[in-house]
Amino acid sequence: MPRLVASAQPPSQSTMLTILWILLSLALPVSGPHLPVSCPQAKECQLALLSNNDVLLECSISKAHWFFFGLDTDDKPISCSVISNMKENPDGSLLIKNPSPFNTGLYKCQDKNGNQVTRYKIDFQDIMRLHVTHIDLSQKPLTNETLNLGHREVLYTQWEPWQRCSTCESLGERKRLGYCYVKEPLEEPVPCGFYLGETKIYYARVKPEMQVETCYETCKGYLTGGDYVIFDNFRLTESKSTWLTCPLASIYRPVHWEANDIALTWQEQISGENLSSFMDPYSGGQQLQIFQPAIYRCFVEQELIAQFNPIASVDLLEAESQSKGPGQRQPGKADLVLRGLKLVLLMVFLLIVGGFLCKVAFRPVPGKKNQVLLVK
Ligand SMILES: *[C@@H]1O[C@H](CO)[C@@H](O)[C@H](O)[C@H]1NC(C)=O
Ligand SMILES: *[C@@H]1O[C@H](CO)[C@@H](O)[C@H](O)[C@H]1NC(C)=O
Repeated sequence: MPRLVASAQPPSQSTMLTILWILLSLALPVSGPHLPVSCPQAKECQLALLSNNDVLLECSISKAHWFFFGLDTDDKPISCSVISNMKENPDGSLLIKNPSPFNTGLYKCQDKNGNQVTRYKIDFQDIMRLHVTHIDLSQKPLTNETLNLGHREVLYTQWEPWQRCSTCESLGERKRLGYCYVKEPLEEPVPCGFYLGETKIYYARVKPEMQVETCYETCKGYLTGGDYVIFDNFRLTESKSTWLTCPLASIYRPVHWEANDIALTWQEQISGENLSSFMDPYSGGQQLQIFQPAIYRCFVEQELIAQFNPIASVDLLEAESQSKGPGQRQPGKADLVLRGLKLVLLMVFLLIVGGFLCKVAFRPVPGKKNQVLLVK
């Protein structure tokens, strides 16, 4: 079975994840962990998104400069290159990592002569206020509410389309996101953050929403199959819980988790039926908190993306510790160095494979799968 094997120690897991994310985004028909957002040139696009979930604003010129204008109109524009959670990419796009509601405002992309290319007005709605409901538990989404600001304003949820079912050929779940908007009669709706930003009044109804329902889909289309990452040594800490992060997963995409081949569902979680794991609603299930050892697997857009093995269950590790004889099962210092070395070699190898993939694997060959091979 072709697969990527990551043998990462917990501290290096984030570096590893970054590299693997890059590689996976090359190998799979899913882009990076962020949501790409584009707006036609010379237009202003106004939209609502969620805080805490990475987004990538596209701008069609290279060497673009980005400026941010906050909600308060007397604020001066800030160059995005100095904002700590933003990164201007060489292709002109702007990556906003872990945006907060304070990142709500106007983003302008300019070319090197200062001409505006495109602009985005983005309301990052507070994920901590997310209202989650499950249709199969008869939970109701928020209802419309009229504001009494004098223009017959209605606060309501504007729903995105349903995402795909989280899995296929078996019962899955699909979700859709909804954003808080205000609409006056005969006017275009406006994201709540912009409409109410200056009023500074607290409205309890100002919440983004996530709605979930059970679904069934047959498998169709293009599944790469076989290209996934194995993290082979998570361990449960003293507190008996740990968090697993599914690479490429995001609240904006279908995510599916299994523990020992049994699906973990929002329905069970919300109804409190199964407390052996917890999918973080604020990341749409990108993060899973686990309380017992098992083999965990995550799927994004119905593709198997990663498998997490508990530290004891891996043949390789068992073989290693057995070869050192009894009484030496804990990895010693030399072991750690060796592991570090293996990790570096692995990274170099992965980068080479990545380069190769860039060159070779992106011509669509019908029926042919992209395969990243690294055999243990
Ligand atoms: C809520 O308000 C929106 C915007 O005015 C409208 O499109 C929608 O039909 C309303 N929903 C209900 C249940 O009244
Ligand atoms: C909860 O989930 C775990 C692992 O998925 C499973 O072993 C256990 O049987 C489940 N318990 C219930 C009550 O469904």
